[in-house]
Amino acid sequence: MDGDEHRAFRAVVDSYMTSDAVADAEPMLAEVAAKVVDALPRAETVDAVHDLGAVFAVRAQCRWLGWPAELESELLTWMDDHRDAVLRMDPARHVAVADAFDDIVRRQVDARRDVRAEDPDRTPRDVTERLLLETVHGRPLTTEEIVSILRNWTAGDLSSLALCVGVLVRRLADEAPLQDRLRFLFRAADAARNAEIDAIIDECLRIEDPFVSNRRVTTCPVALPDGQRIPADTTVILDWAEANRDPEVFGDPDAFDPIVNRPRNLIYGIGPHACPGRELATAELRAVLAALLTSTPAVRPADDERPTPEQPPLAGWARVPIVLG
Ligand code: HEM
Repeated sequence: MDGDEHRAFRAVVDSYMTSDAVADAEPMLAEVAAKVVDALPRAETVDAVHDLGAVFAVRAQCRWLGWPAELESELLTWMDDHRDAVLRMDPARHVAVADAFDDIVRRQVDARRDVRAEDPDRTPRDVTERLLLETVHGRPLTTEEIVSILRNWTAGDLSSLALCVGVLVRRLADEAPLQDRLRFLFRAADAARNAEIDAIIDECLRIEDPFVSNRRVTTCPVALPDGQRIPADTTVILDWAEANRDPEVFGDPDAFDPIVNRPRNLIYGIGPHACPGRELATAELRAVLAALLTSTPAVRPADDERPTPEQPPLAGWARVPIVLG
């Protein structure tokens, strides 16, 4: 979807992810994060990607969308199946996994359609039900369109969020001065400290971007600065991870400089399709770090196991073994 058609639907999507909407969600995100961290065992190895990132991502999304808590294990299993399909690069498996996800989403949409058929004037009780009342081009959204929107908000985001948590926790477990700085900032977080925390989150993700790339099709011939010519109608890959480590933009790509580098990172893309969930994702990641660092005296790497890098075409870490003090 592109151009005017994309803009019409994008306006609906954006209205659910404004700064005010994210601010409203923050107490819920803090509560979910605190419960997930409280439930983690102390003084033994836990995996920051699955035990923390994936569980938080699924639970926070369910709460935000108004989906039942019973879906949690189904969604966690789906995340594993989805990862497996991506790693095998098997198109048939991809289709099966995508269909399975559509079924989960459709059940939620159908349940709300049934309730509204009985009581058409009731005030929507959650984000999923609100979508049933949205209009585009002066008509209500179809079930297909609502499923597609919800799929975009969940299917990709659950895994991205878990991988982002892995990247952040791996770094703060390995780098004591960074962990100490974050602990200091969270001790009495205010707007200025939150801004620094968010810049640190972005900088960790810039250096080790787990959301690697997206595709585009050129709409006209393109000449690149190095003389390379790409004809119209060519599929190209936008490599966000590579762009985020471009020495011409960032100098030494591994130099950690949150405030200077933040305005130039491409973690959430750029242009008309740039991630509408950026603020929400950042608030989610901040909530996880706050819960982790305010309820533990120390987060350290496990003694007997190193983090396992994720396999291409995925990126980040498949497993980040840590011990909570
Ligand atoms: C967890 C960290 C996240 C990362 C790293 C991330 C990254 C991205 C990137 C790079 C794009 C651009 C895609 C493109 O240009 O083709 C994108 C698009 C998108 N993201 Fe995110 N995202 C994240 C979280 C979220 C969240 C929490 C939501 C919503 C709940 C979300 C919803 C979307 C949607 C709907 C699009 C498509 C936008 C469009 O085509 O207009 N993302 N995301």
